Amino acid sequence: MTTPFRTIWTTSDRFVEVIDQRKLPHEWVVVKLITYKDAVLAIKNMTVRGAPLIGATAAYGIYLAVREMVEQEHEGTFLDRAFEELRASRPTAVNLFWALDRMREALDRSGNFIQTSWDMAGKIVEDDVETCRRIGVHGLPILEKISEKKKGDVVNILTHCNAGMLGCIEWGTITSPIYQAHAKGIKVHVWVDETRPRNQGANLTAYELARHGVPHTLIVDNTGGHLMQHGMVDLVIVGTDRTTRNGDVANKIGTYLKALASKDNGIPFYVALPSTTLDMTISDGLKEIPIEQRDENEVKYVVGRNSKGELDQVLICPETTSACNYGFDVTPSRLISGLITERGICEPSESGILSLFPEYR
Ligand code: MRU
Repeated sequence: MTTPFRTIWTTSDRFVEVIDQRKLPHEWVVVKLITYKDAVLAIKNMTVRGAPLIGATAAYGIYLAVREMVEQEHEGTFLDRAFEELRASRPTAVNLFWALDRMREALDRSGNFIQTSWDMAGKIVEDDVETCRRIGVHGLPILEKISEKKKGDVVNILTHCNAGMLGCIEWGTITSPIYQAHAKGIKVHVWVDETRPRNQGANLTAYELARHGVPHTLIVDNTGGHLMQHGMVDLVIVGTDRTTRNGDVANKIGTYLKALASKDNGIPFYVALPSTTLDMTISDGLKEIPIEQRDENEVKYVVGRNSKGELDQVLICPETTSACNYGFDVTPSRLISGLITERGICEPSESGILSLFPEYR
């Protein structure tokens, strides 16, 4: 039995701690966030990553900024700067902006800034835990039906990147139905895309599936299509960083190609999302979702543990080669079978989303 953990927590002196996900699965390093700039850096350099966890870290970043402002008697512009820097920390995951807006609204309503920001950040964290648990409750029947159809034989799920508990607080989005199915005794097996260039699949998804005892196999990113053609994938489930009003989905680069291959092979392609990932202000994902471009060195170098047991990086191309590093792509709604949310499963369309979330009408 492994010890359960969360990805972000508070300390007895009311600061915040996170796991340095850049070092997983090789080293377990905890980073203490003391100032709002620590939170900005943790998001920027991907100590924390994954849409819900980015949002939660930004929320606590505002709490830390409020505390610094009050304790060090800074002007109000200090807090405005913290909001600005956190907003600029990563561009694609809309949870970041959602969480900052919740923090701003809460602060605008109250006089006791430190307590208000502490409470709201805590609420964002607790709500995400329950939201992800419910995504699992709604996603579980999909796995149960496939298992029944296969007469109890293994359900093979393919996923891309890490939309597991490490990208959230607990449960994860795509992993929540998988963990709940596994706990119920349904036989599941996960094909884990390594997810170049940062290898969130190899480093993080494989790590957390192993901790939960879920059978899984690591594959290079280009293997999925072959597996699908040979009947070795029953279902694809991926996460999302931003989902538009008409159901287009931005997720880790390479997701779109998995959706195309799923369509060609008649394999259900689901997206698991907390409603905090909905961006109902935009409709056309291709035109309107900002796609992050990251440092070329993430493509040129591979990071891992060397034979001495140390974390190291190696160059995999000529030093002079230039590389292009888009972090995300957009999967159009027409390629998606359904959105698994905390309120149920809906069609990836405006009417589908509004049927579950009428407050966005
Ligand atoms: O660049 P990352 O690691 O932050 O990208 C993460 C993803 O693409 C996840 O699939 C997404 O944030 C969903 S996390 C539940």
